[in-house]
Amino acid sequence: MKKRLFALMMASMMAMGVMVGCGGGESSTPQSDGQETEQGAEQGTEGNADMSDVEIGVCIYKFDDTFMTGVRNNMQAQADTLGAKIELVDSQNKQATQNDQVDTFITKGMTALAVNPVDRTAAGPLVEKASAAGLPIVFLNREPEADVMQGYDKVWYVGAKAEESGTMSGEIIADYWNANKETADKNGDGKLQYIMVTGEPGHQDATLRTEYSVKALQNAGIEVEEIGNDTAMWNKVQATELMNAFITSQGIETIEAVLCNNDDMALGVIESLKANGYNTGDASKFVPVVGVDATAPALEAMANGSLLGTVLNDAENQGIATTNIAAMAAAGQEITEENVGYEITDGKYVWIPYVKITAENYKDFQ
Ligand code: GAL
Ligand code: CA
Repeated sequence: MKKRLFALMMASMMAMGVMVGCGGGESSTPQSDGQETEQGAEQGTEGNADMSDVEIGVCIYKFDDTFMTGVRNNMQAQADTLGAKIELVDSQNKQATQNDQVDTFITKGMTALAVNPVDRTAAGPLVEKASAAGLPIVFLNREPEADVMQGYDKVWYVGAKAEESGTMSGEIIADYWNANKETADKNGDGKLQYIMVTGEPGHQDATLRTEYSVKALQNAGIEVEEIGNDTAMWNKVQATELMNAFITSQGIETIEAVLCNNDDMALGVIESLKANGYNTGDASKFVPVVGVDATAPALEAMANGSLLGTVLNDAENQGIATTNIAAMAAAGQEITEENVGYEITDGKYVWIPYVKITAENYKDFQ
């Protein structure tokens, strides 16, 4: 889908890692039995990574989420590539449901767990369940608290530094403001009046993207004034409704930028702007909007000029890294950069970089 050098590099690193795991050892029997797997475990990275017994149980906070759909599709594809079994379930945005799903995975004899928590502050009990069963558990996208991460030696986290994406999205708006001084400051007061549309409260990506996008504007020397701030829960329809309400209460001509914590909400905001005759090609009727994720519809919106910019939240590499760690840990392999293809920070974290997406480079990601 997204053919780019970075992904290819990571993919080939990953392939090398898997090769080390699968065939790098002295004995490279194609289908090793359980005994050999145990030997492999004892030998750490030297041994075979036999994937035939690996079964990864994956809980996704909800299937009806554009970005997480990309991640889970990549997890499925990577499991297929590795020859590992994987079962993905929809936690339907209910933590209680997710807890039950984890119990079921354990009862069924899955050999690794990967969890995108509904409530990231509820990760502790899931770690306890994994630990009691002796299973590796990889969290993704919603970061558990540090003490929970330290509470068990077989817990990992795959995600991205939300601060980075916040900074990048703020910089996109700052660059627009500086390049369009006369037209961007609609009321000519020297300040940027913006609206902030946030993701789910309590989600690290919502909190940090909000904070760091504003910081980036201020660091660029721009005086800012927030004229609206509310959550649309990562959701496009809710964002359209929210933007309609802001337009009604503030007046569309007072809005000089809209910063959104993700692309679905940015696209929802654009729907509302379009319905009010904005962002349809008339340069005098344009509100710069920025999102995060670089989903396919967001890149299309960049192509037609309705979305100013976004930030790639790399679903492909997040999905691959999560699956590789779960599979390798289940196969008794040590979690190292050589074995999983991604740098491991503090023994537990994989941070996938964000990429700033502007008019200059969006085509490379389509
Ligand atoms: C964020 C992403 C959002 C949403 C959320 C779910 O990283 O930008 O679009 O998918 O994760 O936790
Ligand atoms: Ca202004």
